[in-house]
Amino acid sequence: MPSTSQRTSTFGESVIRRMTRVANTCGAINLSQGFPDFSPPEALLQAAERVARQGPHQYAVTWGAANFRQALARKQSRFMGLPLDPDAHLVVTCGSTEAMMAAMMTACNPGDKVIIFSPFYENYVADTILTGAQPIHVALRPPEFAFDPDELRRAFAQKPKALILCNPSNPSGKVFTREELLFIAQLAEEHDTFVITDEVYEHILYAPNQHIYFAALPGMFERTISCSSLSKTYSITGWRLGYVIAPPRVIDAVRKVHDFLTVGAAAPLQEAAIAGLELPDSYYWELQTIYTEKRDVFLGYLDRAGLTYTRPQGAYYVMVDIAEFGWDDDTEFSEWLAREVGVAAVPGSSFFREPVRNLIRFHFAKQTSTLRAAGERLLHLREKARTARNA
Ligand SMILES: Cc1ncc(COP(=O)(O)O)c(C=O)c1O
Repeated sequence: MPSTSQRTSTFGESVIRRMTRVANTCGAINLSQGFPDFSPPEALLQAAERVARQGPHQYAVTWGAANFRQALARKQSRFMGLPLDPDAHLVVTCGSTEAMMAAMMTACNPGDKVIIFSPFYENYVADTILTGAQPIHVALRPPEFAFDPDELRRAFAQKPKALILCNPSNPSGKVFTREELLFIAQLAEEHDTFVITDEVYEHILYAPNQHIYFAALPGMFERTISCSSLSKTYSITGWRLGYVIAPPRVIDAVRKVHDFLTVGAAAPLQEAAIAGLELPDSYYWELQTIYTEKRDVFLGYLDRAGLTYTRPQGAYYVMVDIAEFGWDDDTEFSEWLAREVGVAAVPGSSFFREPVRNLIRFHFAKQTSTLRAAGERLLHLREKARTARNA
């Protein structure tokens, strides 16, 4: 039998999806894979019902239906503070996942170097491998997840073609400050590097943190390929609607990659999701209030359980330090946690390039009742860990 390609052998199964399977096997509350367990806004549900009857049901324009792009350009122009042209600056993709892949294929040739902060969202390494590019990792050091400016300078000195910026960040919950972004911008300009952003959590922030769009920094629009999606903002991760925003010469290339990768995002779902893009600003403030409540409920339990963690500034994840429990291996700890305590997390080592084995990640995009149930179980963690250690 012919062998499969080498590139597919260089990355394994997603650890997050494996932990979901572990959670299902032992009946644990699954706080590993990050997706909401509550409904999208009513306006979207009603629109989806209407579209099911009225269509469209055939291919949309490959780079996005015109009315979806117009609504998206209006909404993103408002939040990004940039005058976006729906016919020149946008490509609609199958989630940010495809947006990132298309951005990487557009920016990089095989052999090009790409800066990836570590810890990272696991897709970035796969995107790099599939593109044939080589990652240069720059550490975001826990617990603050700040980068060392000299390390970043040294990474840029290796002439990377692009830097991937996940902001707000999964898994760390970090929101990059203006100073940090301006420092990256200065280096990107100096070394003529693309900045590929993943901003799927652009609307999930905790006061006083604010999201700054890299593309909106002075002079940065020309070198920024902004990727994001509707998945998290409207709780529709299954609709697979994302987008790339970039200057026209980049968009021309992204359109080609996207066309041959997927042809296009689902036409009926683009039509229905316009109802989300047209929601007023109050929707986004409410979203922040809802997530702030969820974060506070869950962190409240972590406090009561006496756990050490980094307070997330954005996104819906929290990294918890498990060093005190005495396990050498965070994967073994996570499996024990799912089995014995009944809550599934992701072992932190799957996000780090460095040998970090003392962190696990929970997500809290769950109904408050689910978070309370998980929290109640975590209150027994310390005592169960002590028993396990003494056994
Ligand atoms: C940082 C980040 N980017 C992208 C995605 C996937 O986004 P999409 O559903 O738009 O493909 C996720 C999902 O968890 C994520 O955390």
